[in-house]
Amino acid sequence: MKFIVLTLFENMFYEFMNTSMIKRALEKEKASIKILDIRKFTKDKHHRTDFPPYGGGNGMIMSCEPLAGAIDEALEMLAKDQKEVKILYLSPRGKVLNDSMAHEIANSDKNYILLCGHYEGIDERIIEEYQIEEISIGNYVLTGGELASQVFMDCVIRLLPGVLADGSLTEESHTNGLLEYPQYTKPYEFRGKKVPDILLSGNHQKIAEYRQQESIRITKKYRPDLLEKKDK
Ligand code: ADE
Repeated sequence: MKFIVLTLFENMFYEFMNTSMIKRALEKEKASIKILDIRKFTKDKHHRTDFPPYGGGNGMIMSCEPLAGAIDEALEMLAKDQKEVKILYLSPRGKVLNDSMAHEIANSDKNYILLCGHYEGIDERIIEEYQIEEISIGNYVLTGGELASQVFMDCVIRLLPGVLADGSLTEESHTNGLLEYPQYTKPYEFRGKKVPDILLSGNHQKIAEYRQQESIRITKKYRPDLLEKKDK
């Protein structure tokens, strides 16, 4: 799966692409991420990419020309793959990303262009012109789409086949509508608190039952709304 990110802040992606699971997924070619600097596509003599909004108001709006240039370049880069390309704009206006959307995207066999806005947003005509879908990562406002695009790529890439160890996806939070059970590792005792004995019993059946009960207990405690949804 290929991601091309369009941004004014390329440097925000270096650590993301060079750390932990994402770094490994890129090295193993399970996914690729390319960053295009929107500023390269401005024709303005001062290299400006944003201007005040027509009609007045606060802040600056990213203008059509550089955005269209960057999108066209990204489309051209992906054209040889002959795969469907989806253009997503990270925006607080979008559909809120959740676990089932992430699975759907990971299974989609499409390539993605991720447009990161900054300042007060982008010229609406770009969204219409390229039939862009908007994705939000939550009901709050960030200063730009860069972190949101990283959240999006992180949660999708880890679901691509071969990225995580086999089995690690089956029991995690949200996958079966419940939160994950509590986990423990060495040492056996920490400040007087011991690991539940059942986990040392070697009885896999009993451990599985215990973990299932714990999952339900934790979900009731932290996210009772998930249990209500599950009952419906
Ligand atoms: N850009 C600004 N706020 C955002 C959000 N909540 N989700 C995605 N992109 C954004």
